[in-house]
Amino acid sequence: MPLIIFLVECGIELIPKEIRSHSAVRKNLSAQIYSSQLLDNALHHSAMVNLKNSEKRGRPDIAHLSLLNALGSPLNKNGNLRLFLHTIKNKIYEFNPDIRISRNYNRFKGLMAKLLIDNDINVNGTKLISLFNGTIQDLLSTFKDPKILQFSKKGKLIQNYNELFLGDISKNNIAIIGGFQKSTFSDEFLDLSKNLISISNYSLDAWVVVGKVINFYELSHNII
Ligand SMILES: C[S@@+](CC[C@H](N)C(=O)[O-])C[C@H]1O[C@@H](n2cnc3c(N)ncnc32)[C@H](O)[C@@H]1O
Repeated sequence: MPLIIFLVECGIELIPKEIRSHSAVRKNLSAQIYSSQLLDNALHHSAMVNLKNSEKRGRPDIAHLSLLNALGSPLNKNGNLRLFLHTIKNKIYEFNPDIRISRNYNRFKGLMAKLLIDNDINVNGTKLISLFNGTIQDLLSTFKDPKILQFSKKGKLIQNYNELFLGDISKNNIAIIGGFQKSTFSDEFLDLSKNLISISNYSLDAWVVVGKVINFYELSHNII
């Protein structure tokens, strides 16, 4: 059974209308350049201060590093990873394991802006990124008898990674990881699982957690 990762509440969105006329936004924005249309805290920080929930927004870098880690893993190359990205605007996308995400951050931002505008990414008839039509609960209900593990610094600290994935090989193992830098899961996500798990004494970056969870799964299933 593959490991299914949900990277949730990722700060990926087009620049919202209410700040499009702000000088910090206008100076970089071009209708011809997809990447310039994505909200990015590094560029638009001063324009974002009054945006609701701003601490979780404008962080495509977190998704970029997490995706590179996940898609480059032995688990993905071995065909045993399914990857879903949920955005702060409640869009859910599945990434084809064969997609090659650009290492270049600007190109990645361009890809994400195109995805948000077009709803999917197709190359030569192959869907590389597809939109899931529905909520996160709808998506969860498509997996039979799932074992849902939600990762948080506030969870129960595991002492041994073997505890996580051994013994349930036949189950759909779903790992929920927050794709944000600050703050915690919003309430609708805290209801998704009764298994809140911490894997470290430290608060780790999302991409580090993605890498570690995948590595735990690989070790448990002898995938190297
Ligand atoms: C940078 S953290 C979010 C900030 C927040 N302080 C926290 O730890 O929840 C991004 C995500 O990484 C995961 N994470 C971070 N530290 C973790 C830990 N010690 N154990 C398990 N998951 C962790 C959680 O899924 C979290 O939502």
